[in-house]
Formats: sequence, C-alpha cells, structure tokens
Amino acid sequence: MNSTAPHNTSESISNLPSLSGRGRGRVKPFKGFSPSLCPLPPVERVLKCPLKYALFGVLALFSLSGCGRREAQQRFERPAEVRDFGQLFAQNCAGCHGAEGKLGPAPPLNDPLFLAIIPADEITRVVSAGRSGTLMPAFSRAQGGTLTDEQIDILASGLRSNWGAAADAAPPIPLPDYLTPSDTGDVHTLENRETALQVFALVCGNCHGERGQGGKEAGALRETAFLSLISDQALRRIVITGRPDLGMPDYRRLGAMLPAGQPLTNQQIADVVALLGSWRHGHEKHKQ
Ligand code: HEC
Ligand code: HEC
Repeated sequence: MNSTAPHNTSESISNLPSLSGRGRGRVKPFKGFSPSLCPLPPVERVLKCPLKYALFGVLALFSLSGCGRREAQQRFERPAEVRDFGQLFAQNCAGCHGAEGKLGPAPPLNDPLFLAIIPADEITRVVSAGRSGTLMPAFSRAQGGTLTDEQIDILASGLRSNWGAAADAAPPIPLPDYLTPSDTGDVHTLENRETALQVFALVCGNCHGERGQGGKEAGALRETAFLSLISDQALRRIVITGRPDLGMPDYRRLGAMLPAGQPLTNQQIADVVALLGSWRHGHEKHKQ
C-alpha cells in the first residue's frame, strides 16, 4: 500500500486531458508530489519529509502574499507616486531622448558637457513647459502635462547626478553660453552672414556638405522639414556639444577645423545658428 497510493495519484493526474494541447496529452504531476522523491502516503509523507513540505508551504505563502502584493503594487502604482529617476525617465523621456539618454531622435541628455552648460532652472523650465514649435512636450500639470512638480525636480536633479560630470572634473576652459544670446544672431548683416558662411563651409561642410546638402559623414542640414522641427536653442546646443553619441564632435574640435585652431566662440556659434535659422523657411534657397 505504501507504494501504490502515490502511484495512483500520479496516474490519475496523468490521465487528465491536456489543457494546452501539447505535451503528448498529459499534464505532468507537480514535482513536489513525485512518488519517487517521497514514496509515502500523505500523513507519513508530511511527517517523514517535513523539510520539503515546509519549504513548499513557505513558497506557497510567499507567492500568495509577498510576491502577489508586489505585483499588484507594480500594476496599480499611481503614476503620481513614482519617485525613481530611472523609472520616470524610462516612462516619460526615453522614447525620444533614448534609453540611456542617448542615441534617441531628440538631443541626448546623457552628456556631461550639455549638463555643464545648461542652467539647472532651465532644465526645470523646459521639462515643465516644453518647447513650443518642437516635439518636446510640456510635462507639468499646470501646463496640461502628467508629472507633478516633485517628479520634475527628481528628473531635473537626476539628470545631473546620474549623467553629469563630477564637480571637480569641470573642463578647464571657459564654456560657451547655453542660452541663445538675445543680442546676437542677426545673420542678415553682411559681416555676420559672411562669417557664418565661412564657418559653415570650413567646419560643418566637412561632414554635412559645403552647402549643408548632406555628405558622407552626416545628413543634410539645409532641409526645411528638419529645421522646422528644431529650435534655435537646440541647434545652438548641438553646435556646442556635438552629438557625441552619433560621432559629431563638440565646439572645441569643431573650432580646431578653422585656421585659428581655437574652440568656436560664442559669436561664431550664434552666427552659424542664425544661418541655419535663415534656411528654415526656405526663403534663402537661391542665395548662398
Ligand atoms: C515626444 C518626444 C519627447 C519627449 C517624450 C521628451 N522630449 Fe525632451 N526634447 C524633445 C525634443 C525634440 C527636444 C529639442 C527641442 C528643440 O528643438 O529645442 C527636447 C529637448 C529637451 C531638453 C533641452 C535639451 C537641449 O538640447 O537644449 C531637455 C532638458 C529635455 N528635452 C528633457 C526631457 C525630459 C526630462 C523628458 C521626460 C520627462 C523629455 N524631455 C521628454 C523631445 C522629447
Ligand atoms: C566631423 C563631422 C561633423 C562636423 C564637422 C559637424 N557635424 Fe553635425 N553631425 C555629425 C554627425 C555624425 C551627426 C549625426 C548624424 C546626422 O544627423 O547626420 C550630426 C548631426 C548634426 C545635427 C542634427 C542633430 C540631431 O540631433 O538630429 C545638427 C543640427 C548638426 N549636426 C549641425 C552641425 C553644424 C551646425 C556643424 C558646424 C558648426 C556641424 N554639425 C559639424 C557630424 C558632424
């Protein structure tokens, strides 16, 4: 009798029709009841194999209580309660700015030079209000977005603490301004336009084609579809930081392509950005 009872149990389970339609029409008996591992009738089984059954019990309890609750928590966590930088970034930003804050279609945020030049309150402002005329949405609730002010703070400070350079690793040379200066950028005065065209041809032209038509190294810049979706601010930032994730060098190596061999100045950066801006609406198509 000792050897038949478990066998019968096993048989009757095996005779059940398959639920999945696979596995040769048999449902495998659960491992814990395997007759070969513990060939005893129920009461004796439990008494003789206390460790195994205790373990089984603990696992069952764990799956009913601990695990189940954690799953439920994950499923029902209210979006406003998420306070983890990584989770907030993955859920709200990664789709455009890339999984690790780079290699996305939008400018990379995982970039120490970018984080060194953008003022902290500017990050908060952009994330809260978005950038009108571009794909960057407003996230603050006051602006119709989905994030609380606290979550925006977590994101803004998290960008720096996760991806910024250590404070003592600041670059030794003066940094260009992040914000587009309001008193520069008039590319229509002859002097500015000439400098801009020169810088463009000698620097940008190496990769984007002399007239911005696109080259072997990089795509076209003189394209209304592209320019109409990107702000002057983002253009300025890209001329300063490059796209390290895509192989575009920053203003230091770009400036080294000019005869003077110096990093691009604030003025040169503003002039090139204004030139790109003037190509935005296609008015300048036939002028150089
Ligand atoms: C639908 C796409 C999209 C999403 C989602 C998005 N962004 Fe952006 N973001 C952009 C684009 C595009 C730009 C550049 C806009 C421009 O031309 O100025 C930008 C710009 C920025 C900038 C300024 C960068 C610079 O180069 O000056 C910051 C900071 C920023 N986003 C943070 C975030 C954060 C944080 C999130 C998530 C809460 C987020 N973004 C979600 C598309 C997006
Ligand atoms: C050494 C090559 C190189 C030089 C020089 C260069 N770029 Fe780029 N640039 C790239 C690459 C590579 C990319 C990414 C691929 C692409 O967009 O074609 C890029 C992308 C860009 C983008 C698009 C960025 C984005 O997020 O979509 C802009 C705008 C840009 N460059 C502007 C400029 C300007 C303005 C200059 C001159 C001041 C310049 N580049 C000089 C290689 C270069």
